[in-house]
Amino acid sequence: MKPTPKTFHVKSFGCQMNVYDGERMGELMAAQGLTATDDANAADLVVLNTCHIREKATEKVYSDIGRLRKHGRTPMIAVAGCVAQAEGAEIVRRAKVDVVVGPQSYHNLPDLVGKAVRGESALDTDMPAISKFGALPSRRKVSPSAFLTVQEGCDKFCTYCVVPYTRGAEVSRPFDAIVDEAKALVDAGARELTLLGQNVNAWDDAEGRGLHGLIAALDGIEGLARIRYTTSHPNDMREGLIRAHAEVGKLMPYLHLPVQSGSDRILKAMNRSHSRDSYLRLLDRVRAARPDIALSGDFIVGFPGETEADFEDTLTLIAQVGYAQAYSFKYSPRPGTPAAEMTDGFVPAEVMDERLQRLQAAIARDQAAFNAATAGRSCDVLIERTGKLPGQMLGKSPWLQSVHLITDAQVGDMVEVEIVRADPNSLAGIERIRAAA
Ligand code: 5AD
Ligand code: SF4
Repeated sequence: MKPTPKTFHVKSFGCQMNVYDGERMGELMAAQGLTATDDANAADLVVLNTCHIREKATEKVYSDIGRLRKHGRTPMIAVAGCVAQAEGAEIVRRAKVDVVVGPQSYHNLPDLVGKAVRGESALDTDMPAISKFGALPSRRKVSPSAFLTVQEGCDKFCTYCVVPYTRGAEVSRPFDAIVDEAKALVDAGARELTLLGQNVNAWDDAEGRGLHGLIAALDGIEGLARIRYTTSHPNDMREGLIRAHAEVGKLMPYLHLPVQSGSDRILKAMNRSHSRDSYLRLLDRVRAARPDIALSGDFIVGFPGETEADFEDTLTLIAQVGYAQAYSFKYSPRPGTPAAEMTDGFVPAEVMDERLQRLQAAIARDQAAFNAATAGRSCDVLIERTGKLPGQMLGKSPWLQSVHLITDAQVGDMVEVEIVRADPNSLAGIERIRAAA
């Protein structure tokens, strides 16, 4: 038994979809009359919205639970997200938390908190046929750049990945529900929407409108200035979506299209169902539609059986593509995935470290080159927050670069900026024209 919590704090780990889910859980608890607090150590209820993608991410939840209980404090702890889904009752056994709730059932969080108050078991990792979205409160106050989940789950079963198990099968939210939520987000202050999905470009409906059809509908929302989407799978990159990059004014010139490896042998072992060559040809088509597009990707080094030659194939692919930015990870075996059973060709930790360093150096080189190419150009910047210096504001370019400038523009304004200096990780700009909000 615990007293009914009056304050809460949600801490999200991992991907952008977790950030979105965390916001929605916060709205749910606020609708119950609880007050949000920024300080996890002062909250009566702490929701740890967890990530299971790599072992390190998973272990974080247990160290966080330990930290929350320091100095004899006993807040109510709810573990949500993908660790909750994957480990379920094991978390209660190992860490004696009060609530465990999976990513497809967090609309039940208020009920579960009620159960925990009564001293009952409060565990829900169901994947109900009826989606949680209908049971969530409407959107109220959001930042100028907001996330909107349109698709969840994955049917691709890459051999290293837990997502098909923790997030379930690919499901697209209904067209009308998405358009309604987009309008609500814009009314609540969003000027940019990033459509989220584990395989966002697999989004579809019974009419076969595809993600490009959805984007075309969102393009018509007054007050919305920018549309982005992430994460995409190469095999779901349909012609209509590629054309949208040439035709839809609000669709930003940025594409996150993970490739994971540049070696066909490794791609096959990963069950990626695309080759190095088919990926490169796809990028040629995307670039033909939108020549200035910023490309981004994900890479895994040290997948079982990866030789030096395989790794060099990844480096040559990177050099060929010229990514504007990319994320890279050391392979982490995940329980229950096929790759975790692959015992041949184990890559030693020091080799993984060395490959990761070389890969990150290659990406940093290309990112710096991409940023340098924007110097001297003008572009729109959406102001997202205040900077550290007096009068300094921070925002994003159309190519998702961070831009800082001195201006009296406010959060949510769109400013035309001349880029005067390019650093490896950010750009410095001066204001030219402020567009009316
Ligand atoms: N080990 C390392 N990286 C992984 N990713 C997914 N599963 C693993 C794993 N087991 C990476 C992939 C994916 C990104 C979200 O995380 O690159 O695109
Ligand atoms: Fe994981 Fe592959 Fe699905 Fe991406 S496409 S979520 S890496 S299984």
